[in-house]
Amino acid sequence: MSAAVRFQDVYRIYDAPGRASVALQGLTLEVAPGELVVVLGPSGAGKSTLLRIAAGLDRPTAGVAEVLGVEPARLRARTAAAFRARELGVLDQHYARSLSPDLTCRATIGLRLDLQGATRYERELRVDELLERVGLADRGGDLPGSLSGGEQQRVAVARAFVTRPQLLLADEPTGNLDGTTGKQVMDLLFELARADGTTLILITHDMALAGRCDRILRIADGLLVGDERLPAALAAQ
Ligand SMILES: Nc1ncnc2c1ncn2[C@@H]1O[C@H](COP(=O)(O)OP(=O)(O)OP(=O)(O)O)[C@@H](O)[C@H]1O
Ligand SMILES: [Mg+2]
Repeated sequence: MSAAVRFQDVYRIYDAPGRASVALQGLTLEVAPGELVVVLGPSGAGKSTLLRIAAGLDRPTAGVAEVLGVEPARLRARTAAAFRARELGVLDQHYARSLSPDLTCRATIGLRLDLQGATRYERELRVDELLERVGLADRGGDLPGSLSGGEQQRVAVARAFVTRPQLLLADEPTGNLDGTTGKQVMDLLFELARADGTTLILITHDMALAGRCDRILRIADGLLVGDERLPAALAAQ
């Protein structure tokens, strides 16, 4: 199969009055299906821009960004949204903001399956399975407001995986959690991705995590400056 994500000479230039800011300046990279990739780089390097373009939430100013064989930038808005809902999972650090306050955890996790026309039985089965796997089997009927930050982020993880996405894009998903809670969420993310064969691109500042992935990409000034594959034995630990 072709690459899960392929960037070829991708530029992203933000036009600000009197000053253009270059977030990506010719970024080229390829991520293979099923790879678990950690992206490291200093603040302002272009990491979130890379992820937003891969998610089809932003477009390259120049160059080609291909995701699962399609160029999201070439799709109409509605088609791009449907593609994202069907094939991608997106997770960021603002778990509280990403969960609707009036939907129970169960409803939030199942929502995308509803939109895809899953039967009630299929939905409930998958939601139960995920609630179990994220350790919240008894909290399905609760609203996110009554959950701790780590629990809310686990709901967001379950929601991101509900459609068995081919590609999961996570932007500092534990940025707002303490070390122990963050590690639990990360364990879960790696475990679910490996179990489902999901391609994972994870942005983090946490060097300790880097040793648990298949590959480390380093970004600086909008360019790829490092690409290191870890031995499978090490990553599997
Ligand atoms: N909407 C925007 N308008 C103008 N400039 C932007 C915009 N978004 C990002 N930038 C600029 O693009 C560059 C890359 O930003 P990006 O958010 O991708 O960095 P990052 O690597 O994710 O940083 P951090 O680790 O701090 O999250 C930065 O210089 C930033 O100021
Ligand atoms: Mg960022």
